Amino acid sequence: MSEALRVGIAGLGTVGASVVRLVTERAAELTRQCGRPISIVAVAARDRSRDRGISLDGMEWFDDPVALAKSKDIDVFVELIGGNEGPAREAVKAALDAGHHVVTANKALLAKHGLALADAAEKRGVLLNYEAAVAGGIPVIKTMRESLAGNTVLRVFGILNGTCNYILTRMEAEGISFEDCLADAQRLGYAEADPTFDIEGNDTAHKLAILTSLAFGTKIAADDIYMEGISNITQADIRAASELGYRIKLLGVAQKTETGIEQRVHPTMVPTASVIAQVHGVTNAVAIETDILGELLLSGPGAGGNATASAVIGDIADIAKSRPGFQHGPVFGRPAKELAPCKKAKMRAHAGGYFIRLTVYDRTGVFAGLARRMADNDISLESIVQHSDRDTGSDRKTVILVTHETTEAAVRKAIDGVTKDGHLVDTPQVIRIERAG
Ligand code: HSE
Repeated sequence: MSEALRVGIAGLGTVGASVVRLVTERAAELTRQCGRPISIVAVAARDRSRDRGISLDGMEWFDDPVALAKSKDIDVFVELIGGNEGPAREAVKAALDAGHHVVTANKALLAKHGLALADAAEKRGVLLNYEAAVAGGIPVIKTMRESLAGNTVLRVFGILNGTCNYILTRMEAEGISFEDCLADAQRLGYAEADPTFDIEGNDTAHKLAILTSLAFGTKIAADDIYMEGISNITQADIRAASELGYRIKLLGVAQKTETGIEQRVHPTMVPTASVIAQVHGVTNAVAIETDILGELLLSGPGAGGNATASAVIGDIADIAKSRPGFQHGPVFGRPAKELAPCKKAKMRAHAGGYFIRLTVYDRTGVFAGLARRMADNDISLESIVQHSDRDTGSDRKTVILVTHETTEAAVRKAIDGVTKDGHLVDTPQVIRIERAG
């Protein structure tokens, strides 16, 4: 039997505690699968006395994650601290500099410093594995980095945030308020420490930035992502979407366009009959369209202790199975030095269909005025629905427009025009429609 792989884990929150428990409980099976034992020899966390429901017997305790990262007694450093700066960044850098393999679930860190860290890992010849950083337990990194070799990716999109999907699903199915759904997602351990990262789209953007780099061989460009969250989605939008044959999902989408690479995160209408519309609750899904394969859809648990721990353990097992001299693939699928700049596509050039919900004053000429503004901007309408005062009050009406394919620029100009005409009672709601199979 080969020597044990010695693992140090920094961060014993929901995910860290699950990793410790599962690796301990499944030690014999992991040994059979990897050909050597995996031994958690050390841990680092802030509070030593906290009861986490796991045994830390035989594991060295570190108060300082950077000290653990530098320890000569580990082979792998597992970073489960979170955050794109501070202890997480310092510890990962220190571990790579010390020649240790690193496993991390930290999407924010990779979105900001992934390129530099990948370069450091590749120079040292160590692995930087991060399956758990994107879409929880779904093996999307491995799929994109290994299984799709030779494919040209055309578009990658998905439901990448379990908290948002959980909220939207329950708002639709049970009519529960946004706030109550969010509180439940926090209680269940899905949400980030700061849940605005979930609901305003940052978490999805971090994950999308990583997928974009893998998909298109480009440098990570998280700052180029267009981002809107779900906090202004109302029951009125959800009901209107359903009446028109759509469901609202927070999607991250990256695609090659004529003007560059489009990266966007926003609430999106997907056809109710599409496969991605059937992805409910905390489940995530990633669709990858390639020239050879067509569309591949992976779905599975996207957040929570066990789902994320499953991906972390898979990454540790890969390291346990690797051998000295074995050439590991580059961190982002191509050598970090060869990743191309990510040329940003202009959001105003985005082409697609749009759902527009307007609350207007109920008076003569409003409908005609709306239609004129659309026509003036070459926007062709697929449907136009006027509701009586169900949601609004007697002197106002809800008008819902669904456009055929048009551009973001045209829609913004049309909405500006309608606003100037003085017909609107409040801020228009505009939701992009995504083609999905
Ligand atoms: N807060 C994240 C989510 C956790 O809800 O998906 C997994 O990254």
